[in-house]
This record gives sequence, C-alpha cells and structure tokens, in this order.
Amino acid sequence: MTVLSSQQDINILITETEIAARTTQLARMISDHYSSTEQLVVVGLLRGSFIFIADLVRRIDLPVEVDFMTVSSYGNKMVSSRQVRIIQDLETPIKGRDVLIVEDIVDTGHTLSQVYDILQTREPKSLSVCALLNKPSRREIEVDLDWVGFDIPDEFVIGYGIDYAQQGRNLPHIGVVAKS
Ligand code: IMP
Ligand code: MG
Repeated sequence: MTVLSSQQDINILITETEIAARTTQLARMISDHYSSTEQLVVVGLLRGSFIFIADLVRRIDLPVEVDFMTVSSYGNKMVSSRQVRIIQDLETPIKGRDVLIVEDIVDTGHTLSQVYDILQTREPKSLSVCALLNKPSRREIEVDLDWVGFDIPDEFVIGYGIDYAQQGRNLPHIGVVAKS
C-alpha cells in the first residue's frame, strides 16, 4: 500500500477558498443554462468527483437528480486501446433528459470521451460536461468541456476528492505532491 508520509510536502495549487469561489461561479452558469429544464440529471463519475459534485449541486439553484457511475481506469502503461469499463452503471434512465456529467479531472481525455459516447447512445435530450480540473497539455483525444473549474499544468494533483493511490482525497485543497 502506498501511503503519503506526513512529512511529504504537498504544494498547494488551488486553495479551498479558490475552489469554493469557482464552484459558485460554475453553479451559477449551470443554473442559468438549464433554467428551463424540468429536472436536470447530474452524473458524477466516482470516485474522484464525490466532493466536487456535493459542493456543486448544493449551489445549483434548480431541481436536480443525482446519480453516479464508476468506470475503470486503464493501466498507466497502456498507450493504445484505452478502453474504459463500466464498474457500476447509472440507475437513472436518461433517455430524453438533460444530463450533466461531472468529472474531477480531464487528462488525456480518454475516460470522458468514452463515458460521453456510452451515455450518448442512451439518447439523452442533451449531454454536457463540467470538469473541476483540466490539463490541456496532456490531451490525446478531443473532448468538449462545457464548464471547467481550472486549467492546470501537467502536474499530478491530489485533494478535494482526487487521489494518489487512494490517498489524499480528504485534503480540502488541490495540491501537488512534492517530488522527494
Ligand atoms: P484521462 O482519461 O487521461 O482523461 O484521465 C482521467 C482520470 O485519470 C481522472 O478522472 C483521474 O481519475 C485520473 N487522473 C488524471 N490526472 C490525475 C492527477 O493529476 N491526479 C489524480 N488522478 C488523475
Ligand atoms: Mg476521475
């Protein structure tokens, strides 16, 4: 098991206050965009989005339904056929509904791109994406992000739901593990 040692320095990249302010802005834009939607379906990708989605939906001023999906991540060394697998699917039928996918971080884009395509086959009325973090310099496949919290450099980040080997999800900020 990998454990982040307490001595290991975490350099704060985005503070708790900055995340909160940006989440409020995102929620406002999303609320405006869906103002005529009867009931928005917000789909969180587990596990990384669990804290972000909790903060985001509490600031969305509309009736929302919340559901979650868990997809496998591919092995790091795999370069081709980065196939994601559904570990746990939605319970909510999304056909004809307005659906918002909430993701923690978009890196190469493979995960989101495949989740998007899977959900699109279910014929939602609309399908959009809100990602807290985006690493544009790492993109391998084009994905359309409707709302992004922060563009970040090519650094491995943890905190606010995002892990390194299951560690660091409970940090209130987004940090970079200092190379020791
Ligand atoms: P993608 O398919 O390469 O876009 O990767 C997306 C997933 O990889 C994210 O949802 C995260 O689970 C994981 N990931 C990418 N970058 C980071 C990072 O900096 N820290 C932790 N997880 C990451
Ligand atoms: Mg993720």
